[in-house]
Amino acid sequence: RRTAAVIPAAGRGVRLGPGAPKALRTLGGIPMLVHAVRAMARARAVSLVVVVAPPDGAAEVRTLLDDHALPGTTEVIVVPGGATRQESVRLGLAALPVDVTDVLVHDAARPLVPAETVDAVAAAVRQGAPAVVPALPLADTVKEVEPRSDGGPEAVLGTPERARLRAVQTPQGFDRETLTRAHEKVALEGEGATDDAGMVERLGLPVVAVAGHEQAFKVTRPLDLVLAEAVLARRRA
Ligand code: C5P
Repeated sequence: RRTAAVIPAAGRGVRLGPGAPKALRTLGGIPMLVHAVRAMARARAVSLVVVVAPPDGAAEVRTLLDDHALPGTTEVIVVPGGATRQESVRLGLAALPVDVTDVLVHDAARPLVPAETVDAVAAAVRQGAPAVVPALPLADTVKEVEPRSDGGPEAVLGTPERARLRAVQTPQGFDRETLTRAHEKVALEGEGATDDAGMVERLGLPVVAVAGHEQAFKVTRPLDLVLAEAVLARRRA
């Protein structure tokens, strides 16, 4: 079996504040996307990385990646992305060579995921799971609410039992054919999804969770950049 990683990196990252597209923002002087590609390339299982660039930014991203050394012999392909994360992933899948059997989908916004976590996800797919997510227990209690957009108080509808909840990260791993089918179904039905495994769940196929890692957190808000810089500085020390 051959495992490839698809990295959707076409988002603008508006929640992070004004500036460059999120994947091109730097951590320790190096663009987040380069960290993410290196994290995939360091994993033993991954021999190919497909980077999905902003629709008009594929040439710029290619140059950026050529300017930064990657560990090992991992091949990197760059393709233009789409208007949504889902579309960007679909375009990345379409660029995979025929011999790829297993796919990891990894957010550029999770630049510090350790190689061991990547390999654990890949291993679970190789052992036959059609879909695998890295997941962590929650520190916060979670409430379901009736959402309001006017800033007023929201009615609380319920409190799921925290011990049964997990926050899921990436890379999420898939049997290639399963993920391709899931994306086709969701595209046909015109529905949105916030993660790839959720699309596989809608096919009625089993998804399993393996241990995630605290350093696989998503860089979304300005405070996450502070944390990411600190993690990186500690690694380099
Ligand atoms: O916005 P969010 O943090 O959920 O984005 C998750 C990942 O999806 C990021 O790596 C982002 O670059 C990517 N994305 C994409 N194409 C889009 C929107 C988001 O590749 N149109």
